Amino acid sequence: MRFLIINGPNLNLLGKREPDIYGKDGYEVLCQRLKAYAAAHASTAECFQTNHEGAIIDAIHAADGVYDAIVLNPGAYTHYSIAILDALKAVDVPCVEVHISNVHQREEFRHKSVTAPACVGQICGLGLYGYEAAMGYFLERT
Ligand code: DQA
Repeated sequence: MRFLIINGPNLNLLGKREPDIYGKDGYEVLCQRLKAYAAAHASTAECFQTNHEGAIIDAIHAADGVYDAIVLNPGAYTHYSIAILDALKAVDVPCVEVHISNVHQREEFRHKSVTAPACVGQICGLGLYGYEAAMGYFLERT
């Protein structure tokens, strides 16, 4: 399968950013891990990170017909980006939403995802493993 992994704002600071919540591994470690996981399953994973909402929307649009599945951590956009919700609905690429932290154990404003309704499902609280779990789901179901 061809996976597109999209990480939104502040996830480039993984490892440095609140490591008690997001862990000590950096963004590059995450990408290497996901590429290795994909390769071990005869698949590919392209990793894209941006701090800009429009760039996430452009990446979702461009994924149509190019990737088989999207694994998306929209970061804080999760909680208010109707534009990302609409982009996910506009394309034919299935998406699983991932959150490294357990958003339900955190502030109330993190409990609501406006983007998850356009996704097949949502994984949260499993750390970086959540991305592999999402990929594993797609690998199992095809
Ligand atoms: C996050 C959770 C969001 O609430 C937060 O804004 C993030 C990261 C997570 O991976 O746990 O940036 O998506």
